[in-house]
Amino acid sequence: MHEDLHGRLAEVPTPEGAAAIETLDPDDWAAFRSLAHQVVDDTLDDMERLRARPVWRPTPPDLQAAFTTAAPREGQGVEQVYREFREAVAPYRMGNDHPRFWGWYMGNGSPVGALAAFLAAAMNSNLGGGNHVANQVEQQVVRWCAEVVGLPEGSSGLLTSGASMANLIGLAVARQVHAPVDVRSAGLRAQPAEMVVYASRETHSCNQRAVELFGLGNRSYRKIEVGADYRLELPALERAIAEDRSAGRTPYCVIGNAGTINTGAVDDLAAIADVCSREGLWFHVDGAIGAMAGLAPRLRPLLRGIERADSVALDLHKWMHVPFEAGVALVRPATDHRLTFTLTPDYLEHTVRGLAGGDVWFSDLGPQLSREFKALKAWMAFKTHGFDLYGRLMQRNVDQAEYLAERVEREPELELMAPVGLNIVCFRAVPAALDERSRDRLNRELLVLLQESGVAVPSYTTLNGRYCLRVAISNHRTRTEDLDLLLDTVLELMPHAASAVAA
Ligand SMILES: Cc1ncc(COP(=O)(O)O)c(C=O)c1O
Repeated sequence: MHEDLHGRLAEVPTPEGAAAIETLDPDDWAAFRSLAHQVVDDTLDDMERLRARPVWRPTPPDLQAAFTTAAPREGQGVEQVYREFREAVAPYRMGNDHPRFWGWYMGNGSPVGALAAFLAAAMNSNLGGGNHVANQVEQQVVRWCAEVVGLPEGSSGLLTSGASMANLIGLAVARQVHAPVDVRSAGLRAQPAEMVVYASRETHSCNQRAVELFGLGNRSYRKIEVGADYRLELPALERAIAEDRSAGRTPYCVIGNAGTINTGAVDDLAAIADVCSREGLWFHVDGAIGAMAGLAPRLRPLLRGIERADSVALDLHKWMHVPFEAGVALVRPATDHRLTFTLTPDYLEHTVRGLAGGDVWFSDLGPQLSREFKALKAWMAFKTHGFDLYGRLMQRNVDQAEYLAERVEREPELELMAPVGLNIVCFRAVPAALDERSRDRLNRELLVLLQESGVAVPSYTTLNGRYCLRVAISNHRTRTEDLDLLLDTVLELMPHAASAVAA
């Protein structure tokens, strides 16, 4: 019967000669198609030639004015708007697609990822739930990530905007599972004791923010000391848990890091898993940077213990280069994951048959209802390239970080500021003629000069009270020569930075 009805759809007549109605579709499909081909050509030209571009340049002030005009009441036509995009938007991008971008911790995207983002937008599926194929795609991407991380089959998960949201989801399930009363119904006022979470002081700030948003207060977020390698100190963790227990508080979760944001340090995850199982605590891993690093066989031993986590947050828009945004929250106990978030109003009742069917509704697994078809970017890119290639690219970045650190150590006027964790190198200029305070100012100036030169974009951090340049080499386009150019330019700019500081 369905085939018959589907067949008849193809015969539905177009209302030739009927009065046109307004829609958002083009009036002239042929003209739109030709512009769309031009868009693809221009975009691929940009991608193919991006090495020749400055990494970053500021948006000129006169162009910034274009972004302060009032809401357009009349349409300008897509040709005009695209021209404006080419002139005022495309040239002043962040630069994180460039081979010499090493700021904060970013992925570069990829041509396949960009095509997939276009296809997903054209499908315009809503991944809140329901029985449609995009749902299967997302479930498959989640299963692949769980497999790489080493979580067992049957673990739960969903794609998120990034690791901030993925950490929030993991920590929310932890709170739900370990709270002495049901926080969903009774709320925090009913808690008999303060609930405490532990993380090294190098842990990303989004975890503290999650705890604050839960209403648990950041006084219940213990920042545990790290060693010289910037990894969590286990005796300090154990002491803190014991102190809290004897003060009548309720420890409930430890966050381990698979790559910290400052230096890329990977905590001893197996040892933290031991503490958690001994103490009956939830083990959450912030793996925004390194959860997928096991794809590189030589890096796998570093992550030992991650497979014992109760929840893992990871980012696909970082080292996996899926275009922004794409993170994943993985939760081992699937039922707990669902029970933390599910809330189904009548109009979203899940059915067995029809479009409201489907075994997983992602709106049951996080705070969002409407959700983008992010999974297609990951699915197409991973199938196109294969996970082994990502492993090789990660290993190359780690080797490049070691290379850069060695070069830094050979330069008398540069100082390596921390052991290289995974692929992050922190260093600063230390000209003998300058005292400590001037050195901080010099390095700040040096970084800005470097970024303004358009040659390279590292970022910065402060380690042990000293400001330094931070080079996070999560870049599938970086060649070793790019790192040589970085250091040569740093050395060349140093006297200019010094005179700016002296002036
Ligand atoms: C270790 C770590 N956790 C969490 C985050 C936050 O991730 P996102 O920006 O994807 O929300 C970052 C971002 O750099 C990170 O490095």
